[in-house]
Amino acid sequence: MRHWLLVFGIALAMVLVPVAPAWAVGGDPERPVRGVDKVPKLEVDRSARIQEHVQRIFRTPHANFADERTPFAQGMCNRCHGAGMEIFFNPEKESAERMNQPCLSCHEEGARRHWHGSTHEFSGLACVNCHAMHNERPRLLKADTQLEVCGACHLDRRADFGKPSHHPVPEGLMQCTDCHNPHGTPGPSKLIGHTVNETCYNCHAEKRGPFLWEHNPAREACTTCHDPHGSIHRPMLVSRPPMLCQQCHLGSHSDVALTGARMDFRVQGRSCLNCHSQVHGSNHPRGFVFKE
Ligand code: HEC
Ligand code: HEC
Ligand code: HEC
Ligand code: HEC
Ligand code: HEC
Ligand code: HEC
Ligand code: HEC
Ligand code: HEC
Ligand code: HEC
Repeated sequence: MRHWLLVFGIALAMVLVPVAPAWAVGGDPERPVRGVDKVPKLEVDRSARIQEHVQRIFRTPHANFADERTPFAQGMCNRCHGAGMEIFFNPEKESAERMNQPCLSCHEEGARRHWHGSTHEFSGLACVNCHAMHNERPRLLKADTQLEVCGACHLDRRADFGKPSHHPVPEGLMQCTDCHNPHGTPGPSKLIGHTVNETCYNCHAEKRGPFLWEHNPAREACTTCHDPHGSIHRPMLVSRPPMLCQQCHLGSHSDVALTGARMDFRVQGRSCLNCHSQVHGSNHPRGFVFKE
């Protein structure tokens, strides 16, 4: 504790004298640069980092003294770090629960309503796994993009977005949070909609129907046929027709009189879709087999 009080004192001094060089840790600002050799390297690096961190928090929304809801209006540094500056958000030394407590004391409402009981909480994640308080990025995220923030742990999902057919997240046109709330939701897989389909309809409203002729799997879950993160099969299909369709529709379709003798629809470019082009459902009076 005493150690941290010291660090805090130094940190605060550096805010007040922002031009103080990093090697001022030794105490004498007039000391020649050569003397840096005598300061243990770790000390120098750490104080330099702390100086940077502390200066930066003043440029975040948390440092808005005028807004009485902010930590700076409610005891400044101590509001997050504890009355004796005893919480240092060090995942190696402090439990996630302890680190999250000060944050949740202000942020438990709104998007964090379902934090408790979420798989992220259950897995021991802390707010600081994704957020960093002493930086100037929007939403105080730890990295520039969500692909990086989330991809640090979800390597497989990050890889999916590198496949040829994907939602434009790497292009910066969409975010993970267009479909997920990382703080938890009442629905499955932290989806923002109550179901997979409700999430997709937010943007692909035309797939909602209602259709005169419904295709059952499209009603049930878009993810039966699509991987929303990315796939090697366009457009984000989990596999290519005819295999995609033949997971459920067994048989060779031999009872259907196909026009053009010897035409093997399975090797045609669009396979089953050559004829059944309206796989999501049809409103055409004769659309019962999704041909129109
Ligand atoms: C004393 C209350 C308080 C505490 C403690 C607090 N915050 Fe905040 N936080 C705020 C307020 C107020 C805002 C500004 C909200 C606004 O402008 O609508 C904010 C904003 C944020 C934002 C959004 C920043 C942006 O750019 O939009 C994030 C992320 C955040 N806080 C995370 C945290 C985390 C993580 C912790 C714990 C380390 C924490 N907060 C502790 C009150 C608090
Ligand atoms: C798994 C990563 C992750 C964790 C863990 C996480 N957040 Fe966030 N948080 C995000 C992302 C991503 C955004 C940006 C959302 C956006 O831009 O719409 C965000 C946004 C926010 C915001 C600002 C927007 C809003 O929803 O009000 C606040 C405040 C916030 N988080 C607080 C917290 C607190 C408090 C915790 C810990 C209980 C926490 N977060 C844990 C990823 C995370
Ligand atoms: C909104 C909550 C919040 C406030 C207010 C806050 N901090 Fe922090 N502080 C954190 C978190 C969280 C970390 C962990 C590292 C990070 O998120 O960047 C941290 C880390 C630090 C560190 C360690 C940096 C390192 O490299 O290990 C120091 C020192 C520090 N804070 C000092 C201060 C001082 C001094 C103030 C007041 C001027 C202050 N903090 C205000 C949340 C806060
Ligand atoms: C520090 C590591 C870490 C980071 C960063 C992280 N996650 Fe997770 N995430 C996990 C763990 C651990 C689980 C639980 C896995 C399990 O139970 O199999 C999980 C589970 C999930 C799930 C499945 C949840 C469920 O309820 O079924 C989703 C969706 C998810 N994370 C989205 C995100 C998003 C979006 C981000 C970025 C905003 C993110 N995660 C960042 C570690 C992380
Ligand atoms: C277009 C919507 C969409 C976007 C964007 C999206 N996801 Fe998902 N994600 C889903 C859906 C839908 C599921 C549920 C899949 C299922 O039930 O089969 C899911 C499931 C997950 C899971 C749980 C995986 C599992 O196997 O259970 C993780 C983790 C995840 N997403 C992470 C991410 C991350 C990280 C990002 C951003 C880099 C992201 N998602 C962007 C729609 C999306
Ligand atoms: C936030 C809006 C949004 C949500 C939610 C969303 N999408 Fe998308 N979707 C897009 C955008 C934007 C594109 C890219 C369109 C383009 O490239 O022209 C796209 C493209 C697609 C494509 C490929 C279209 C093509 O022609 O290559 C499929 C398939 C798709 N989405 C399925 C889904 C599924 C399934 C879900 C639900 C899990 C979903 N989307 C949720 C916005 C969204
Ligand atoms: C039975 C499998 C299947 C299901 C379930 C399914 N799709 Fe598709 N989807 C396809 C196929 C196959 C294509 C390619 C169509 C083509 O090439 O003409 C496609 C194409 C798309 C496209 C791009 C072309 C277009 O028609 O706009 C989007 C967007 C899309 N699907 C969204 C969705 C959504 C949203 C859902 C859930 C409501 C869904 N899909 C459910 C098989 C399916
Ligand atoms: C997850 C299983 C599943 C997948 C995958 C699937 N379907 Fe279906 N399909 C069904 C079910 C269930 C019905 C309704 C059958 C019924 O009512 O007898 C159906 C009905 C149909 C019908 C109308 C036939 C009828 O008897 O009403 C056609 C045509 C059809 N599907 C074509 C396709 C095509 C083309 C694909 C591939 C793009 C495909 N299906 C993928 C499950 C599936
Ligand atoms: C050359 C056009 C064509 C192609 C290619 C085609 N179908 Fe069909 N399909 C039809 C026609 C026409 C019907 C309606 C037959 C009827 O009215 O009895 C039909 C009917 C169906 C039915 C309804 C049940 C039945 O057998 O009568 C299903 C299911 C079906 N097709 C699935 C598929 C699948 C899966 C593929 C790809 C492996 C496929 N079709 C490829 C033309 C085609």
